[in-house]
Amino acid sequence: MRGRPKFAAMVDGTGAIGPRNWRGHLLRARTERWARARIEEIRSGRSDAPPGPARTVATHRDAEGRLLDVKTAGVELINLLRPTVANARYVVFAAMALHENPHWAEALRAADADTRQRFAWEVRRAYPFIPFIGGRVREPFEWRGHAFETGDWALMDLYGTNHDPGRWHAPERFDPDRFRTEAIDPFDLISHGGGSATDGHRCPGEGLTQTLLVTAAHLLATSMRYELPPQDLTLDLAYIPARPRSGCVLRGVRAV
Ligand code: HEM
Repeated sequence: MRGRPKFAAMVDGTGAIGPRNWRGHLLRARTERWARARIEEIRSGRSDAPPGPARTVATHRDAEGRLLDVKTAGVELINLLRPTVANARYVVFAAMALHENPHWAEALRAADADTRQRFAWEVRRAYPFIPFIGGRVREPFEWRGHAFETGDWALMDLYGTNHDPGRWHAPERFDPDRFRTEAIDPFDLISHGGGSATDGHRCPGEGLTQTLLVTAAHLLATSMRYELPPQDLTLDLAYIPARPRSGCVLRGVRAV
């Protein structure tokens, strides 16, 4: 609809070059206007928005008691909403994982909380979302004979690290039970970046993603039945954020 935010299309334009990226920028400008209007409505009392991200951002005051300027508040609102919508891609990967490993659909129906966590970790390890991220070198270092100088651009291979045979046993196998014996280190399961979210740039939304994914996988396995019609579920790692070529089409969805 004209003038309404299109978060899913913005997510899809994240890693693109060319028209998909230009569309992402266009939608971004439109969405920023939409977000600024929501902030202004809340501040002027014209909105009945319930407590939640928009109201929290609109009424947030800094240490000096000042509200955020409207532009920054709008951007912060988008920074919360867009990655939350991005989690839909993990719901697609959870549906794929259940389709490709049907015994796990059965197992999840009787699973305890720990097993559901392990399933969600394994979806995040096994399926790509952002295959790699770029960053600038802050301090020179050498790695396997390659010198990195301050300011150089470097790519971190998130998908490759999540599939490193030196770290993971049978990395190509979808196996949530691996986490019964393999402890997670902040530098190996890195779908959301490496290190710490507190004093580094690791994604602060990782816990939210994990919780949404646990819930979505549980609902897919226990609260509904559906079929997957013939489709192309191959993953294109050059399409960022990655997605199966056909999406993941569910047919005959019914509640149980
Ligand atoms: C679809 C699930 C998500 C994935 C795959 C994801 C992935 C990432 C990655 C790879 C980074 C960069 C980490 C780095 O530079 O080392 C990042 C940063 C960030 N993410 Fe997420 N994210 C997701 C969901 C979310 C959610 C739900 C939120 C908040 C509601 C969020 C907020 C952020 C923010 C604010 C940063 C910047 C952190 C910083 O630079 O300090 N993300 N995310």
